[in-house]
Amino acid sequence: MTKEAFRLTSPSGVELDLPVRSGTVGPDVIDVGKLYKEQRVFTYDPGFVSTGSCESDITYIDGEEGILMYRGYPVEQLAAHSSFIEVSYLLLHGELPTAAELEKFDHTIRTHTMLNEGMLNFFKGFRYDAHPMAMLSAVVGSMSAYYHSEMDASNPDHRDIFAHRILAKMPTIAAAAYKLTSGQPFMYPQNDLNYCENLLQMLFSVPAEPYEIDPIAAEALDLLFILHADHEQNCSTSTVRMAGSSGANPYSAIAAGVSALWGPAHGGANEAVLNMLNEIGDKSQIKKYVAKAKDKVDPFRLMGFGHRVYKNFDPRATIIREMCHKVLAQLGRDDTPMFDLALELEQMALKDDYFVEKKLYPNVDFYSGIIYRALGIPTSMFTVMFAIGRSVGWTAHWREMIADPSTRIARPRQLYTGPPQRDYIAIEKR
Ligand code: CMC
Repeated sequence: MTKEAFRLTSPSGVELDLPVRSGTVGPDVIDVGKLYKEQRVFTYDPGFVSTGSCESDITYIDGEEGILMYRGYPVEQLAAHSSFIEVSYLLLHGELPTAAELEKFDHTIRTHTMLNEGMLNFFKGFRYDAHPMAMLSAVVGSMSAYYHSEMDASNPDHRDIFAHRILAKMPTIAAAAYKLTSGQPFMYPQNDLNYCENLLQMLFSVPAEPYEIDPIAAEALDLLFILHADHEQNCSTSTVRMAGSSGANPYSAIAAGVSALWGPAHGGANEAVLNMLNEIGDKSQIKKYVAKAKDKVDPFRLMGFGHRVYKNFDPRATIIREMCHKVLAQLGRDDTPMFDLALELEQMALKDDYFVEKKLYPNVDFYSGIIYRALGIPTSMFTVMFAIGRSVGWTAHWREMIADPSTRIARPRQLYTGPPQRDYIAIEKR
């Protein structure tokens, strides 16, 4: 929908009307596309704080109200009633599936879980202490070397096959990376198991003895994957769109997304939270660490606190917090002291003027690591788990971008602050 124009007046008094557009919900956007052509100026917005980079039908976030919706459905309802596979269908296809559509989709994902056997050789080349995220980004990128016969982005069937392969094979790649670091043999997928059961089996079973899947563990993983599945134009998703906008193959674009997710300001925060809680160690130390986080000269931040968009609460964190109680109570692991420490840290920060004034609340990553740890997943695998859940969001965005006729290569400009033109100086005169 086009609204009344936004009038911009330049310092020399020239007026320019910029189109204003409204989405279905959320703030309007000013279309600045013709600004440079007509006024020879760029907009400047480091970190893209006030910039919309595309049109999207997939996910909506209202950061002030703590609202997150996938294709219009509130995440609380999906978390309570849906499954990760159903949510994946919703994100990829735009509508909830019928029973028959869901069964077909689930079957397709279950029957694409194996990796080309040659890909397993990659893992033999990594050092035993390689970070699983390093292996994940490398092996996902290498999928383009194995599945290149169905990689034509202009072919909708190829786009479907790519989506199924990414969703189905991410857990297999993740588990292979874990098995390498733990020195255990790789376990093949078992397609009679559902998505999360299969992942648990590939992570924790060994050929020497039977492995019993804990239904609470599978339920908790499914919930975490629903909550991680998409988050509109976050850093890794924007990276996937940007890499894909050049026409790069979709596996390379997803590998770029995995790399962007790894950073501690983004998906790497779940690993950083656990490392931080271990470092704090004891409730008596909390005050000291809160003071460090507030100290301008100290680079320390409270990991798992703050969000670019959520300024009231992170709805995913509220849901995960509940699940933490359930998992710790039912699995009976010895992680309760760590959760107690996290809750006390949370309470102290929530009452602190610094965190209140800056609207810094616990985010999804503050609690997710506590669940992963209680499930026996090592800290270095936390961001890999996030990547498994987010891979469907990345894929949905890549598909949306490729199918959108208005997509152009993503190519931002800059404010140049280097030296103006100068003449080359011969080396003996420098
Ligand atoms: N601890 C202490 N101070 C903080 C924190 C924190 N966790 N987060 C932000 N601040 C302060 C920051 O110093 C700044 O203060 P000032 O205005 O005085 O300079 C102010 O709050 C605004 O911070 P910002 O870095 O400008 O905000 P941003 O929107 O660019 O960054 C963020 C958002 C999530 C990167 C940041 O809050 C952060 O580093 N948090 C810790 C890492 C984390 O938990 N990341 C996971 C995010 S949720 C999952 C995901 O996206 O993958």
